[in-house]
Amino acid sequence: MAPAVAFFLFIFLTTVESYTNITLGSLILANGHDPPWKSPSGEFAFGFQAVPGGRYILSIWFDKLPDKTIAWSANRENPAPAGSKIELFPDGKFVLSYSDGRQIWAANSDGTGVAYAAMLDTGNFVLAGNNPPSVAWQSFDEPTDTLLPGQVLHQGFSLISKFSKGNYSRGRFKFILQTDGNLVLYTTNFPLYDTVSAYWSTQTVGTGFQLVFDESGYIYLTARDKSVIYYLSSNEALTTKSYQRLTLQYDGVLRHYLRPKSGGREWTVGDYYPSNICLRILQDTARGACGFNSLCMIGADRNPSCACPKGYFFVNPNDELGDCRPDYRPQICDDPKDSERYGFVDMVDTDWPLSDYAHFNPVSEEWCRQACLEDCFCAVAIYRESNCWKKKIPLSNGRIDATVGGKAMIKIRKSNGTL
Ligand SMILES: *[C@@H]1O[C@H](CO)[C@@H](O)[C@H](O)[C@H]1NC(C)=O
Ligand SMILES: *[C@@H]1O[C@H](CO)[C@@H](O)[C@H](O)[C@H]1NC(C)=O
Repeated sequence: MAPAVAFFLFIFLTTVESYTNITLGSLILANGHDPPWKSPSGEFAFGFQAVPGGRYILSIWFDKLPDKTIAWSANRENPAPAGSKIELFPDGKFVLSYSDGRQIWAANSDGTGVAYAAMLDTGNFVLAGNNPPSVAWQSFDEPTDTLLPGQVLHQGFSLISKFSKGNYSRGRFKFILQTDGNLVLYTTNFPLYDTVSAYWSTQTVGTGFQLVFDESGYIYLTARDKSVIYYLSSNEALTTKSYQRLTLQYDGVLRHYLRPKSGGREWTVGDYYPSNICLRILQDTARGACGFNSLCMIGADRNPSCACPKGYFFVNPNDELGDCRPDYRPQICDDPKDSERYGFVDMVDTDWPLSDYAHFNPVSEEWCRQACLEDCFCAVAIYRESNCWKKKIPLSNGRIDATVGGKAMIKIRKSNGTL
């Protein structure tokens, strides 16, 4: 056989091969070159995706998109080292393990009745049986941070955001259809996963039953009798024409993403919740939409971003949702002269509500500034309509928004030409 023909045949066979059911005994190694298992259309793939640190997460992704956007993953908390493998054992068990056989993750099924596995065109990966036809386990029942068209979120199930853009580990926000019927967005008590406060909900206690993402791009909450009680997305967007997903992003915003199949360069956003996360999150303890001392702001692209005030910088430069710390030493309390080494930067329409320990009214702005300067506890003074609030660090729920009004006077040390 001529090499060109042999090569063609090889391509043909491997292409066909990737379209068939995954038989018992099949496996994929996390080594950067084992091919993933693809859906018949080729739109979705199941396999290992490399993440920073030379590790791999077992995941399902949009395979025709250059960025291979991940829709589901098994071990996002514990990325697997090279040499790990996912194996569909002859007894039907489906296990992700290290090269030495120790288990990292396993599908929640004892394998009974499993005859094959399949990556379906909907993006659902199933362990299935023949007699009778059955599904022993499916990825659609264990969502991570994303729902796909055709998928249903049941009561008690949730999406948890990833930690940051490039870190798929569980992050700081949760979207849950509660067993009481309410569909809610919560901040989590990071690094634990209990919830701190709700920042959006459908207020459907007693009525919400299932969140449905249908093939026409509608996303809605139904009651037990299947009637629609709340639309999250009421614009038709056919899944034959566009890729779609509903993702709780690492920044806490739940977004309906769309991308034309005819070559959209990036995901565009349809409906999203809440409309202004910077203003919606307000909690007595914990941080807010951004980290401690940080400020949240909605940009022209309608996305929130976090930034440290002048004189502060991110504790972890790779974590823009993290905390900010001052780049100067705190004011000395038993030396009144030390206050002379400090001054203020003003930021309009800026506030950290709830972080105040003193309030004066009516006073002038100059009085407020001086009162904060002479007070070694005062990190920031807020002045608005004759009111003066003194704030202490760490500051939380920081926001910059035209509706805030007034100004924040941020005390910083007059060194190195900062002021
Ligand atoms: C996959 O297996 C099922 C059940 O055995 C069968 O009905 C179906 O035709 C198979 N699909 C392919 C592409 O082999
Ligand atoms: C991802 O974030 C988690 C949570 O902070 C952290 O424990 C983990 O080390 C991070 N992973 C990487 C690769 O940075």
